[in-house]
Amino acid sequence: MKSTIEEIYLPSKGEIIDIINMTPEIKLFKIKPKKQFHYHPGEFIMLSLWGKGEVPISLTSTFGFHKHIELCIRRVGHITTAISELRPHSEIGIRGPLGNMFPIENARGQDVLFVAGGLGIAPLRPLINKVVNEKKHFKRVVLIYGSRNPSEILFKDEMDSWEKKGVRLILTVEKKDKRWQGKVGRVTEYPKISKISFMNAYAFICGPPVMINVTMQSLSMMGMHEDNIFTSLEAHMKCGVGKCGHCYIGSKYICTNGPIFSYAEIKNDALRTSHKS
Ligand SMILES: Cc1cc2nc3c(=O)[nH]c(=O)nc-3n(C[C@H](O)[C@H](O)[C@H](O)COP(=O)(O)OP(=O)(O)OC[C@H]3O[C@@H](n4cnc5c(N)ncnc54)[C@H](O)[C@@H]3O)c2cc1C
Ligand code: FES
Repeated sequence: MKSTIEEIYLPSKGEIIDIINMTPEIKLFKIKPKKQFHYHPGEFIMLSLWGKGEVPISLTSTFGFHKHIELCIRRVGHITTAISELRPHSEIGIRGPLGNMFPIENARGQDVLFVAGGLGIAPLRPLINKVVNEKKHFKRVVLIYGSRNPSEILFKDEMDSWEKKGVRLILTVEKKDKRWQGKVGRVTEYPKISKISFMNAYAFICGPPVMINVTMQSLSMMGMHEDNIFTSLEAHMKCGVGKCGHCYIGSKYICTNGPIFSYAEIKNDALRTSHKS
């Protein structure tokens, strides 16, 4: 069924219920939407602040698992700075959910590798929660997650609970502190130790463009099928619904054809600068 003009352009209201400081620049917002909606891992919303503007933000909560929608937002510029200054009970606008979703159903019965860098864990989090909840339908599940330093690891408690439920966790930091006893280096160094069956496995990658590029290329070289390697792309967006042309890369709109693409679909297109680092 086609959406009406009201549905695609008019934001509905939401109330901020709680705000958690994750790092000095990243906050987790718990939001109660006035109109409840169903959503899937990989989808995003256009989040608006009256008088400031609208930004695309990934849904980081899991539908039916988290009570309210959750958004993990890094302060980078005009609108995200204004959003990061909001307090509980503030009102925001929501359009969506928009975009496509991670094709996780295709990965049933196979090994699954998640590779996340920094804030790239935000769009992967609902997908990982889904896989963890349905773990018996997947074989080996591995998460490689990299942060700049140990204090920037996001959702650490949740990761520990994933590990208890059978996910192999490979955490790495670029710069360690005195207490860090884990791995040091970039995520791109670790797929080779994941012990997954590359020929049949599926990979879901999110992070800065350089990391996405290198990881996709190396997984392909290790034998993973280009149609089985997926990422979430970013671009400047205005409409979010395929009308304004702002998010065009190659021959695709990131807002409506994506944001989730396979390596086979995008390997010839230049990846844009991303904030998910
Ligand atoms: C599908 C999608 C999902 C996203 N999910 C999240 C999320 O979960 N959490 C989150 O914090 N951010 C997310 N982003 C990025 C977020 O939308 C941008 O950080 C935001 O639009 C910046 O707006 P601003 O007004 O604060 O910055 P501006 O004042 O517009 O810009 C500040 C600086 O950042 C650059 N910039 C702005 N937006 C982008 C962009 N999208 N890509 C590259 N450079 C940009 C500008 O050129 C400028 O240099 C997502 C983007 C997309 C497309
Ligand atoms: S944001 Fe307008 S076409 Fe994608």
